[in-house]
This record gives sequence, C-alpha cells and structure tokens, in this order.
Amino acid sequence: MKRIGILTSGGDAPGMNAAIRAVVRAALQRGLEVIGIFNGFEGLIEGSFKELNASAVGNIIQRGGTILKSSRSERFKSEEGRQIAYEQLKKNGIDAVVAIGGDGTFKGATVFNQRYGFPFIGIPATIDNDLFGTDYTIGYDTAVNTAVNLIDKLRDTADALGRLFFVEVMGRDVGTIALAAGLAAGAEDIFVPEIKTDLEEISQKLKNSRPKESYIIVVAEGDDEGGVIKIADRFQKMHPEYDIKTLVLGHLQRGGSPTANDRILASRLGVAAVDAILSGNFNVMAGMHNNKIIYTPLRLAVKHFLSINEEWKQLMYLLSY
Ligand code: F6P
Repeated sequence: MKRIGILTSGGDAPGMNAAIRAVVRAALQRGLEVIGIFNGFEGLIEGSFKELNASAVGNIIQRGGTILKSSRSERFKSEEGRQIAYEQLKKNGIDAVVAIGGDGTFKGATVFNQRYGFPFIGIPATIDNDLFGTDYTIGYDTAVNTAVNLIDKLRDTADALGRLFFVEVMGRDVGTIALAAGLAAGAEDIFVPEIKTDLEEISQKLKNSRPKESYIIVVAEGDDEGGVIKIADRFQKMHPEYDIKTLVLGHLQRGGSPTANDRILASRLGVAAVDAILSGNFNVMAGMHNNKIIYTPLRLAVKHFLSINEEWKQLMYLLSY
C-alpha cells in the first residue's frame, strides 16, 4: 500500500470534514500518499483527483458539508460506469479507497469490490444513524442538536400563541432523529416510520393531558401518514379547536458545525480506517461499539432497522404529559 484515495458520497453529514482530516493526517504520518476524489463515485468515474497534504485539511475540523463534495452517482450503478472508475484508479496508482458515507455508499463499494477485487474501507457518516456495525454514525449527534435548537425556538412562538405544531425532521426510513429530538425538546409525541401512526390515539392523548399552552409533535419524514402538511390537514378536520401549524426542518439538519462528539467520533474512525488499511483488513467499515473500535464487513454495514427505543419513548410521554 502506497497511495490511497478518499471520497465522501451520498447525503453529506456534519463531521465528514473531521473524518477526512483524520484519514489524511494519519495516513501521511504513516507514509501513505492520499488522493482526494471529488464528488463521490461520480468523481471516481471522471478522474476528479487531487493529492492532499496535511495543509489541505487544515481548518476544516469545525466545518459542516464536505470539502471533497458529494454525489448520489447514478453512473456508478452501471457496469460501464464502474469499469471507467476502475481504469481511473489503476491509471492513478491508487491501491485502496476510504469511502465516507452511508448505506448506498457501502453497497456501491461492495459491488465494485466483488467485480474488481479493489479494496475499500468504509467510515459511517449519515445523519440518520441507521447503519449496522456502529452505535453512532458521524453527523447524527449534530443533526439531533440542530433539530432540538430549532424546536426550542418553535416552542417559544407556539407557547405565545397557544398553537399545535407538527414539525418534520429527516428520516426517510427511520425515526432515530425524531425520537432523540422529541425526547430532548420535550415534545408531546413523535410519529415515526417504525410505528403505525394513529391520529385518533394522539387526539385522545392530547385530551387526557393537562391543559397546555402549546403542543409539539415531531414527525419523521418517512412516517406512514405522510408529511406534516397532510397530517396537519387531517388533524385540523378532526379538531377544529386547535390552532395548527407546520414546519419542515429539512436540510437545515444536515448543515452546520459538527458537535464535539461528532468531531471526536470522526477523528477516531478516520484513524481506525487507516489502521485497517495498514493491517490489510480490507472491505470493512470502521465503527464504534460501546466506545471501542470495531470492524464490520462492508457488505453487512447496510441499513439497520432497529425498533424504536421504547424506554426513550415512554420517558418522553412520562415527562411531557
Ligand atoms: O440519508 C440522509 C438523509 O438526510 C435522509 O434523512 C433524507 O431522507 C435524505 O438524506 C434526503 O436526501 P436528499 O438530500 O438527496 O434529498
């Protein structure tokens, strides 16, 4: 191993830059050259490469987004696109690639490796925290904190005018952000894809709760009842007595400076990825379990559909009645 590539792919997550910095600096310290691959797998196909030195990753640990840019590459899904990518890697003398991303990134890397035997190392970064092989993904802690900060602001105005807000957070397939943000922001309820939403049940719950100035219901974007606009419409028809408003937090949750937790996680996983390369432990994802580094085969590090943490949910109800 002499020369490694590094790319970020899929939805960006705060802390990706901290992971890039860790990989680049650890690799350089250990005698490897590092080539930055821009725009994820798309850049791999286009040969968008640039050598990175220690200064190239200076002053980025605190920045959101990704200096390497990202993409959801359609071309990399085709045999033809992958063939070009392979030729680019050979032409540029790249021996292994560190791929920072989520489920789609690792699936792409696995298919590529199965066809060309080219080694990849994965680093989990997605705000959704829905990957098998790590307790936390890079970006999740920041996204939850961003959502909580915004919901806190919403509570001020909801309380002033006695309103009920349905606020939508990200999570196409999972309610991980909704649950954590709901508990931390003292929400009255959460709607998540893992649990069938029953608007009658929430009506009952609100009626049984003590009289309140405001209500906040956090809805994950993948909830089975649809988005907040649809839910609010239905609920307003059932309950004309509530003054209902909606808010979609959307991509705001993906931006911003990463929390200290995300920076530390990214630094540890970045170095662990370089360790894996140097010990020939290829096609694995470096993850964190019980505060220890673990490695999971990339092909298994896919979406993890956990049931919602019941204890946290009950805690939210107990404390927000
Ligand atoms: O996977 C991260 C995520 O932010 C999901 O929560 C969300 O559903 C999706 O990406 C949105 O993707 P895009 O930015 O491509 O619309």
